Amino acid sequence: MAQKKLSIKIITLFPQFVDSFMDAFGIVKKAVKNNLLDIKAVNLRQFGLGERQVVDDRPHGGGVGMVLRPDVLYKALKKTAGKKSHIILLTPQGQKFNQAMAKRLAKMDDLVFVCGRYEGFDERIRQFADEEVSIGDYVLMGGELPALVISEAVMRLRPGILGKLESTENESFSEVTDIHGREYLSLLEYPHYTKPEIWKVGKKSFRIPKVLLTGHHKNILNFRNLESLKRTKKRRPDLIK
Ligand code: 6GU
Repeated sequence: MAQKKLSIKIITLFPQFVDSFMDAFGIVKKAVKNNLLDIKAVNLRQFGLGERQVVDDRPHGGGVGMVLRPDVLYKALKKTAGKKSHIILLTPQGQKFNQAMAKRLAKMDDLVFVCGRYEGFDERIRQFADEEVSIGDYVLMGGELPALVISEAVMRLRPGILGKLESTENESFSEVTDIHGREYLSLLEYPHYTKPEIWKVGKKSFRIPKVLLTGHHKNILNFRNLESLKRTKKRRPDLIK
């Protein structure tokens, strides 16, 4: 059976952000061509009010900055999202994005992202979103890069979008199984090596771990899992419960 298409729409005042992303990456273009992906920017400006297409105004009660109007956002959503769309507001106040969330979103076929700019959204639009997501504890100027970050993390998990040689199985933040069948969660990926076996830089030479040359699959699996664990303990102890 043919793979279902993933539809991504990004409501933004800066549609050129999304367009440049699509144009830059061969994998994205190929996925679009193969009917596995449809990613489109929707220009929020076209839903703006009056001749000047106003989308924002000053906050009631005073304060700095501008706030996106809920009526304008609602018009954009009505026009962009269908019944089956999963609507995601991008805001630093949202749930923090991670690989588990990427996997959950990759099971959906129709995602609509709403990007804030300026001081943010009028509070009343929140009720029309299915969830609010942040990509980390720092502040960006708008939700465009977060929408693309999430889109990239999600689309690469969809069957058929990556080439067969690019595995998403043993990568960082995924489960690994050791030779006893025990599962570890959320470890960093093990180190990779390729040719040359002995790499000379000036007087120094750097070898690759011997076990990788033995062809002994059990030992190699064990070595890699151990390295994953060591590396995670050292760099990201927070990932190990
Ligand atoms: Cl989703 N938006 C903005 N403006 N800043 C962020 C973010 C989102 N996630 C992290 N920082």
